[in-house]
Amino acid sequence: MMAKSKLMQILTDAQLADLVSRSSLLEGEVNKPKVLLDANGYIYKFFYQPDRILSSRTLFPPFKQFAKNSQTLLKRNIQTVSICDTMTAQDKRFDAIRYQAIEGRDFREHLKQSDNDDISMIVDIMAELHHQGVFFRAIHLGNILHRPNGDYALIDISDCWFSFGPLNAFKRARNLAHLMNYHADRHYFSRYGNERFLNEYALKGKLNKANLWFIKTYIRHKGVEL
Ligand SMILES: Nc1ncnc2c1ncn2[C@@H]1O[C@H](COP(=O)(O)OP(=O)(O)OP(=O)(O)O)[C@@H](O)[C@H]1O
Ligand SMILES: [Mg+2]
Repeated sequence: MMAKSKLMQILTDAQLADLVSRSSLLEGEVNKPKVLLDANGYIYKFFYQPDRILSSRTLFPPFKQFAKNSQTLLKRNIQTVSICDTMTAQDKRFDAIRYQAIEGRDFREHLKQSDNDDISMIVDIMAELHHQGVFFRAIHLGNILHRPNGDYALIDISDCWFSFGPLNAFKRARNLAHLMNYHADRHYFSRYGNERFLNEYALKGKLNKANLWFIKTYIRHKGVEL
């Protein structure tokens, strides 16, 4: 019996040029696209080979991590993209994945046009992710989509780590510090109130006083004013 293995499709340069010509470029350049949206509502995300020959990215290619993380997140009831295909360039200079675009816009865009108090939705999202044992390293408001029905979905999920139970206080603190310190987003949190955000997160996540104290101390140490 033949082993069941899903072969990666080859994307030739001519096919790539054709794809670029009928898609909108969301990130990157025409000669080196990073994220494309085609007319059928599919997103193509490209992962280029690192310049260095030996890199952790050669051993653990981000597109494979992305696909694996998508499955784990969905199993934990966290909404995210699900991968339809994986592709590779003829000369292997990139790998790409295709997934359906999700209706909505990222939270950074959403907050620009809505009440800043909508950041309270991020309180719920962080409490849920951490409760489900999800450490989403690339957390920032551009990587969380706000959907018209009020739900959310994670994108850009190459770099996640999962624990068996809920995240411990140290991982929670690191993740929150990253989120609240992110240069493009920090003003949304300070306008809402950094301390208020953390108090609400602790309440939602049913954290005890010692853990909240640890998280606040860590975050303050990372330069977030409370
Ligand atoms: N499934 C999706 N549905 C809707 N829009 C998406 C989706 N995936 C990506 N996008 C849009 O494309 C933009 C860029 O996508 P993504 O965050 O994956 O790449 P990136 O930010 O360029 O990657 P990186 O953060 O690694 O530099 C997002 O901010 C979002 O607007
Ligand atoms: Mg992104």
